[in-house]
Order: sequence, then C-alpha cells, then structure tokens
Amino acid sequence: MKAFITGSTGFVGTHLVSLLQREPSVKKVICLVRSPSKARERLGSFGKVELLPGDLEHLPELPEDTDLLFHLAGVTKALARDDYERFNSLSLIPLLERASTLRNLKRFVLVSSLAAAGPSQPGRPLDEEAFPNPVSLYGRSKRSGELRALSYAEHLPLTILRPPSVYGEWDTDFPVTFRMLKRGLALNLVYGSSERRVSLISADDLSRAILHFAFLPLRSGEIFHLGEPREYLWNEVEEAVFRFFHVNRPFRLTLPKPLGYGAALFASLAERLSGQAKIFSLHKLPELLQPCWTSSWQKAAKTGFLTRDSFPERVQTLLAWYVQRGWL
Ligand SMILES: NC(=O)c1ccc[n+]([C@@H]2O[C@H](COP(=O)([O-])OP(=O)(O)OC[C@H]3O[C@@H](n4cnc5c(N)ncnc54)[C@H](OP(=O)(O)O)[C@@H]3O)[C@@H](O)[C@H]2O)c1
Repeated sequence: MKAFITGSTGFVGTHLVSLLQREPSVKKVICLVRSPSKARERLGSFGKVELLPGDLEHLPELPEDTDLLFHLAGVTKALARDDYERFNSLSLIPLLERASTLRNLKRFVLVSSLAAAGPSQPGRPLDEEAFPNPVSLYGRSKRSGELRALSYAEHLPLTILRPPSVYGEWDTDFPVTFRMLKRGLALNLVYGSSERRVSLISADDLSRAILHFAFLPLRSGEIFHLGEPREYLWNEVEEAVFRFFHVNRPFRLTLPKPLGYGAALFASLAERLSGQAKIFSLHKLPELLQPCWTSSWQKAAKTGFLTRDSFPERVQTLLAWYVQRGWL
C-alpha cells in the first residue's frame, strides 16, 4: 500500500510516520513537506519515506496509486484570525479535489479535533451525535474543514477523527504549562479550573487510531471521537508534574475572568511582537474557560479501537524526554 500524509513534520505527524515505518502492509509513505530540512531533522531514518515538497495551497500532483491519505496538516494556533479558516478549511479544497480523482484510494482520514464539536458538560462526555458547538476560532475552523470534507463524502471514502488534547514527545504546547508547574506555579484562569475535566490521548495511540480507521471498511463520512477511557481532572496533570520535579509546596494562583482576559490580551500583544503564535492568547481563551473537554470513546471502541497508553503511566517518561532535550 502507498500512503500519502500531510502534516508529517508536526507533532502528531512525526508519531504517525514512525508507526507507518513499522507497518508491514504500507510499502511507501509520501510526505507533503514545506521544509525538507525540518523533515530530515524530524523523521530520522527515511526507510520507506519519500518527501514531496509543497504545501496545501500549492499542492503538487498526488501519486495516482495512493491507497491511503492521512490529512493532519493545519494550524492549532495562529497570529491572524483568518489563518484558522484559511489553513484548516479553505486550503483543504485542492486536496479534496485531487483525492476524489484517485482511483485506488481506500481511505481519506481527516484528523479534526474535539474542538470542532465543542466543550462538554460535567458528567456528560460528548459523543458524536451532539450538535457541534465550537467555541473558538480554531474549533470553528476545524468544524468548517469537516463540513468541507463531508461535501466530498460521496466522491471519496472519508473518515473523520476528533481527538481531544494530545500529549507526547515533540509536542510544544503542553511544555508551556509544564515549565510553569516545574517552577511551582499552578496558574488557572477561572475559579475552580484545577477541577477542569479533560479527555486525553497519547500521540502514539492517536497514530494507532489513524491507522486502525484507515483499514476499516466504513461508510464514507463517519465521525469518531477518541480518548483514553478515563477522563482526568486538570489537577491530576498538575500533580504529576509537581511529583516529577519534587515541587512540595506549589503556589496556586487563580485569576478571575477579567484578569484572565487581561493576561490573554497581554499574551496576544507579546505574540505579535515575537511574530510567533502561542498556545495562550485571546484566540485560545474561550477554550481555556470551559470547565469540561471530555469526549466519549465508545463508538470507536465498538470498531475494536482501544487506547493502550494512560496519561499517569506515560507522563513520567514524557517529562524525562523533555528534560533530556532541554525543553524543560
Ligand atoms: N496537538 C493536539 O493536541 C491536537 C488535538 C486535536 C487535534 N489535533 C489536530 O491534529 C493535527 C496535527 O496537529 P499537531 O499538533 O501535530 O500540529 P503541528 O505540530 O502544529 O503540526 C502541523 C503540521 O501541519 C503542517 N502544515 C501547516 N500548514 C500547512 C500548509 N498550509 N501546507 C502544508 N503543511 C502545513 C506543518 O508543517 P510545518 O512543519 O512546515 O510547519 C506541520 O507539519 C491538526 O490537524 C490538529 O488540528 C491536534
């Protein structure tokens, strides 16, 4: 089988390529890359991987004999408001157009996000039937990308996955919080947000899910939520980091909502000055203010997919990896 992947140089893509390297039924992996030098640094030994320079808006010809297409490219944070819609939805059009002409294509897996479905209510993890209610520019653009892809569902075998927050090696977002926690500071935005509940999935499990669904003979257009069977209190994430760094007396600071807006405004200004999008900004604030981001995993489990990792078991080795790389 020949696989084509977008977003291979990103956090999740790096894990997926590594899994595809080990998957015997996949003989060739073509990676669309904007920066071949970054790809060389990220993807290590090339094995069955081939690089195809280009980007979503300047899409080169896709190999005619592509069997599996994994679309991961997109932005999770952006400087300009319009970039979310542009890179998570509009730039999907050329890819969908070309993919729908591929005669061998067995599956187009679109990696969307739980953000496209929106937050959940306490005690009620969100399932695939819930009416989408994205609360941020990112979430709305991911939903818009889903709708765009769904409009091609009759022309290509589409499966949409909605992972919750993903953790693992190469992620640059969780370490922002981990760095603060290492210094003993647990900063939360609204009263009680340490009580925030989240679903999580490791990048390795997400990659396994992507491959699992690529091989399932599903009706085109099906959507699946993912996540570890247990949801976590944000507090548990904080405590795990404190334990690792032997922080015995953490300082917990909870900013009331108006101060949260102030901090996000300040972060957005700093973001503009640095010219680099950050995970904490006015764009991302609506996501951080939600008490619950939990998703149901039962529909995926019915197809035989279960996660193998659990955050409490993986977090210590993950933190050690960050420390070793000098990221923490
Ligand atoms: N990380 C999470 O917690 C999470 C949770 C739920 C869903 N997701 C989804 O999972 C996917 C991967 O996320 P990630 O965390 O791996 O993101 P990431 O680390 O930011 O990687 C994004 C990837 O997309 C590529 N890309 C961006 N714009 C592109 C364009 N116009 N043309 C070609 N390539 C482009 C980037 O290329 P460069 O390397 O050249 O920049 C990079 O390879 C995204 O669709 C995201 O929405 C992520």
